[in-house]
Amino acid sequence: MHIVSGERRQALSAELLEADRAGRTSPDFSFDYADFGDGSYLQRAREQGAAYYGSLRVERSDTEGRREASLRNLEFFGAPHVALLFLPQFGDGVRVASDVGMYAQTFLLALEARGLAGIPQTMLGFYADTVRDSLGVKEEMKLLFGISFGSADPKGPSSEYRMGRVPLAESVVAHDTPGILEQAR
Ligand SMILES: Cc1cc2nc3c(=O)[nH]c(=O)nc-3n(C[C@H](O)[C@H](O)[C@H](O)COP(=O)(O)O)c2cc1C
Repeated sequence: MHIVSGERRQALSAELLEADRAGRTSPDFSFDYADFGDGSYLQRAREQGAAYYGSLRVERSDTEGRREASLRNLEFFGAPHVALLFLPQFGDGVRVASDVGMYAQTFLLALEARGLAGIPQTMLGFYADTVRDSLGVKEEMKLLFGISFGSADPKGPSSEYRMGRVPLAESVVAHDTPGILEQAR
């Protein structure tokens, strides 16, 4: 994990915005809504998008407004620090990626425990070459995602946004454990 603050953070943000302007995306891992199919995953992604842009008062038809809002990712939403999480390529990478995911979740909880807040951002991984060049990271270290962090702004533009959660019975199958999903609620 690389943590970037101060002037280096400013420079990285400028480089990311410039890469975006020039259309220089370079994801190490694919991301395609087409992979979601047309079932519940796509449905949830749409609901998440509607809730997010709704909280920012950006209409679905407002392409420019959506683009402006998404560029805030590259300014780290104004947070003073950003963590970039890289992984070495072992095998197909899935096990290491899951380890990094667990590490990231613990990092987010540690921030929370200290009264801070973090924003996991898949989008930062779409500019892997730019980030590697900026931070002097070797090509073999692949960028999974970033986490902007600092003190939460309770009055921030998306502060009323909450990602929905499907009921547990939709995501967990309980075998021979009657009542466990009701108890976990
Ligand atoms: C792995 C992961 C990647 C995410 N990537 C982005 C992103 O690139 N840009 C963004 O604005 N939000 C992204 N989000 C959503 C927010 O960071 C955050 O999770 C959301 O605001 C809801 O917060 P909650 O999960 O605590 O309910 C991502 C969330 C996760 C879990």
